[in-house]
Amino acid sequence: MRMGTAEVATRRTGGSTWWRDAVVYQLYIRSFADGNGDGIGDIAGIRARLGHLRDLGVDAVWINPWYPSPMTDGGYDVADYRAVEPVFGTAEEAGALVDEAHALGLRVILDIVPNHSSDQHNWFRQALAAAPGSPERALYHFRPGRGPGGEEPPNDWRSVFGGSAWTRVTDGGEPGEWYLHLFDATQPDLNWADPRVQAEFESILRFWFDRGVDGFRIDVAHGLVKSDGLPDLGGDGENMLAPVERTDHPHWDRDGVHEIYRGWRRVGDSYPDPRVFVAEAWVDSPERLARYLRPDELHTAFNFDFLRTPWDAEALRKAIDHSLATVAEVGAPPTWVLSNHDVVRHVSRLGRPVTNGAGHSLSDLAPATTLDRELGRRRARAAALLMFALPGGAYVYQGDELGLWEVEDLPDEVLQDPTWKRSGNTDRGRDGCRVPLPWSGTAPPFGFSQDGARSTPWLPQPADFASVTVEAQEDDPASMLSLYRAALALRHEHPALGDGEFTWLPSGPGVLAFSRGSGFACVVNLSDSPVPLPAGATVLLGSGPGIADGALPPDAAAWLAV
Ligand code: GLC
Ligand code: CA
Repeated sequence: MRMGTAEVATRRTGGSTWWRDAVVYQLYIRSFADGNGDGIGDIAGIRARLGHLRDLGVDAVWINPWYPSPMTDGGYDVADYRAVEPVFGTAEEAGALVDEAHALGLRVILDIVPNHSSDQHNWFRQALAAAPGSPERALYHFRPGRGPGGEEPPNDWRSVFGGSAWTRVTDGGEPGEWYLHLFDATQPDLNWADPRVQAEFESILRFWFDRGVDGFRIDVAHGLVKSDGLPDLGGDGENMLAPVERTDHPHWDRDGVHEIYRGWRRVGDSYPDPRVFVAEAWVDSPERLARYLRPDELHTAFNFDFLRTPWDAEALRKAIDHSLATVAEVGAPPTWVLSNHDVVRHVSRLGRPVTNGAGHSLSDLAPATTLDRELGRRRARAAALLMFALPGGAYVYQGDELGLWEVEDLPDEVLQDPTWKRSGNTDRGRDGCRVPLPWSGTAPPFGFSQDGARSTPWLPQPADFASVTVEAQEDDPASMLSLYRAALALRHEHPALGDGEFTWLPSGPGVLAFSRGSGFACVVNLSDSPVPLPAGATVLLGSGPGIADGALPPDAAAWLAV
């Protein structure tokens, strides 16, 4: 499964369109591997574990923010965009990691957070120290409050994490202006109407591109531009992860964002090996998403429509069709994703009824007691084969390859996601999908930190992680890890996979069947009875047992040579 050096070199330099069908591994740095024993993942840990990514067969890694940060939102509160958080390592280590990843044929994508900085960023400290109306304050959204003493927030916008999107500061010892934060109060929104903000971020992009970084994932790409005058939202506050169901939302998906990304594209294209962008944009529809992917804007975007679609053949068929059709109009490749650090792990999502919405947050799902983890795992295996057989790119969230589930019983006192506090302890937030990875051994820290580490992992790992460590799965041909490795190896070898043709094949209800070019087909059975496989087909890879006899059991998928 490993590649020879020549092959690695081809893949790395192999064309400026590598991103069109790359499989990207999302590396949540705090929870991947701890190199220095303080219980928090770091760059040394990643460097020591790069072999895992090579053996898995992914093409690139996306590393969540590693910049200096007070960590009130897991690093999405950036205090300095041009440095590395000391808990994670040093700039030298970061440079070495990029080089080592490149030597293994892996591209490196970082995460940029342009919607807001940390309240500890120099710009915000200076804004607080400066007077209302000053140029320092103009870098953020400061406003006087409403009501006679200005004691009401300037408008009715809500923080994605709960509560008002405004916090009041003191000016000259007295209650003063308010500032906007669509996320935590420690994450003030930058004012993108100010040209200094645009210039600063283009310079930050260059800073990392000059250090060999291959691209950026853009955090909250749909949030940067706010409507002039910051008008009230009206109606209920809404969550970022819910579809934005209005065309003129005052702070999500405003048309002005596109000009910003045209500027970024020019920066990326100015490099001989052009740098790429992937948008995190939670928007209303595939059509709205496609606007970010016009030829002079961003390269790809996360397809949250696919992630939000329940385990239902008709719904998935529609989501796939719709996604393919809309990106095709702008000439961009689709991408597919099942999990990330913001949503419930898909083993837990697929293994129980969805009671509300699309099931990406715990409150959308039937209680934990209804979870059938084995069912979730079977479906996760089938979903992986579906995803990797679709045209375009795919994202693997660290731990997907181990079949990790959402840890739903973390004790209240260890919860760190700001959502927990800001929701008045009603929403437990996203910590359950961020528990440190189990690598080896039979007890915590499961090789996440070395034996004898000073500290325990920053979130406690459940005892039953023992059954899903990399070590436990590595030599087991029936494991999730073996399935991922086999699927990614085949995806690389098979000319029909990745970018290219896609055609639905006739199939019964509850079944998805499609071909990729000539000679390859994928069948997924979402019904509750077995379905026959096409006559004369040979199974190249099956998601589980019982596929051999020409029939596909429920909740299974097969890759076929036809
Ligand atoms: C994005 C990140 C999420 C973070 C938020 C604010 O949605 O994925 O983790 O909390 O932005 O930066
Ligand atoms: Ca560490």
